[in-house]
Amino acid sequence: MAQGNLAPKDGAAIYPSLRDKRVIISGGGSGIGAGIVEGFVRQGARVAFVDVQSEPSEALMQELSGAVHAPIFMHGDVTDCDDYGAKIAIFIEKLGGCDVLINNAANDDRHKLAEVTPAYWDERMAVNLKHQFFAAKAVVPAMEQAGGGSIVNLGSISWHLGLEDLTLYQTAKAAIEGLTRSLARELGRQNIRVNTIIPGNVKTPRQMKWYTPEGEAEIVAAQCLDGRIQPADIAAMAMFLASDDARFCTAHNYWVDAGWR
Ligand SMILES: NC(=O)c1ccc[n+]([C@@H]2O[C@H](COP(=O)([O-])OP(=O)(O)OC[C@H]3O[C@@H](n4cnc5c(N)ncnc54)[C@H](O)[C@@H]3O)[C@@H](O)[C@H]2O)c1
Repeated sequence: MAQGNLAPKDGAAIYPSLRDKRVIISGGGSGIGAGIVEGFVRQGARVAFVDVQSEPSEALMQELSGAVHAPIFMHGDVTDCDDYGAKIAIFIEKLGGCDVLINNAANDDRHKLAEVTPAYWDERMAVNLKHQFFAAKAVVPAMEQAGGGSIVNLGSISWHLGLEDLTLYQTAKAAIEGLTRSLARELGRQNIRVNTIIPGNVKTPRQMKWYTPEGEAEIVAAQCLDGRIQPADIAAMAMFLASDDARFCTAHNYWVDAGWR
């Protein structure tokens, strides 16, 4: 299968059904999102992504420029619903439709109860929850036109564990699971599947801001499996859920957490 000079990495699955698929990803410039962008591009999908960080996004574009379909990047802030909606419309036009939406962008800034104001609440819900709903709303007509689609929402293990200093992030991430089940019911008859991926602790540049080597060792000790989860491990699940192999998977949570309890 010709993929320009990029193909799925050795040993990785190849999904023929993802080839030429039109995929929109939020927060694709770094961390897990960058792994998801790379994964889909390596499958020969047509990928468009938005991110607030231009520098890593452009570096990623450069890295993937030899692909059969080089990805499209637009700088954008998902908390500005109107602007993000307009960018999604541009992506749909450029890609010629939309088959897959990956709602990935989020921000896990820490806070204490006493510090939270109504404005901070709104801002946290905007960056962690609201855009997932409105991005889904924006792509549904294109997915209907395509005869179906797959929406993948990034949730989090954090609220299942009840971690410290993350009340608003965890509130939003808990709501995403309800959003997934509700949209899956509403959109199922249009053959649009909606699922949540629940990552455990994934080794990304941002997470390394929070964790010391001792903290990382504690996470590994709490997992069933040794080793640190990488963005590519989350991308692997996203690609499966987006592929036709997952055609009867909808309305559920898919954990990639190495058995962290
Ligand atoms: N890394 C983990 O351990 C972990 C664990 C559980 C869940 N998750 C979830 O996985 C997803 C990706 O996490 P990550 O660790 O890669 O995060 P990250 O912070 O490393 O990357 C998020 C990306 O989204 C972008 N982004 C942030 N705010 C944005 C905005 N307003 N508009 C546009 N782009 C914006 C960032 O610039 C960044 O490129 C998130 O939904 C996160 O909640 C991550």
